Amino acid sequence: MSMKNEFHNKLLSSMVDVGEPRFNLAHEKLFQIIVDADEILGLAATGERMLGQNEWESLSSVCDELIAYAKVHFAEEEETLASRHYPEIAHHRTVHNTLIEQLNEFQKKVSEGNEKDLKELRRWMLEWLLNHVNHEDFAYAQYFTALKTA
Ligand SMILES: [Fe+2]
Ligand SMILES: [Fe+2]
Repeated sequence: MSMKNEFHNKLLSSMVDVGEPRFNLAHEKLFQIIVDADEILGLAATGERMLGQNEWESLSSVCDELIAYAKVHFAEEEETLASRHYPEIAHHRTVHNTLIEQLNEFQKKVSEGNEKDLKELRRWMLEWLLNHVNHEDFAYAQYFTALKTA
């Protein structure tokens, strides 16, 4: 894991605070796993070479870790949202489930070792977490902040 890349740091710093320290930490951890995947995908994205067998295997284990961690985080978040009676919980749960499906799709493409869609997959991988945290997670953060200050 390395967070030396300026582009990655910039993306990380654009991720919003959701007002719940353990969820902020989970988001950071998820982002770090995504960076691990991005660094492997970046080797092929320059178009200079194909990924080797070892790199496909590394990418596959990074995906396993990402999916496992995302599932744990999503379950914890849903539990908290349910216990606080968040009105948009059903939507939030649907979005989480869709993301897991998309991550499984990604994993499947990786296990097929298909170079064809790598560029597109790489872009999606970098975007999904930020999009989710900065929109749907931020929505619950704002809702709970409004309740506290009401
Ligand atoms: Fe989250
Ligand atoms: Fe979420």
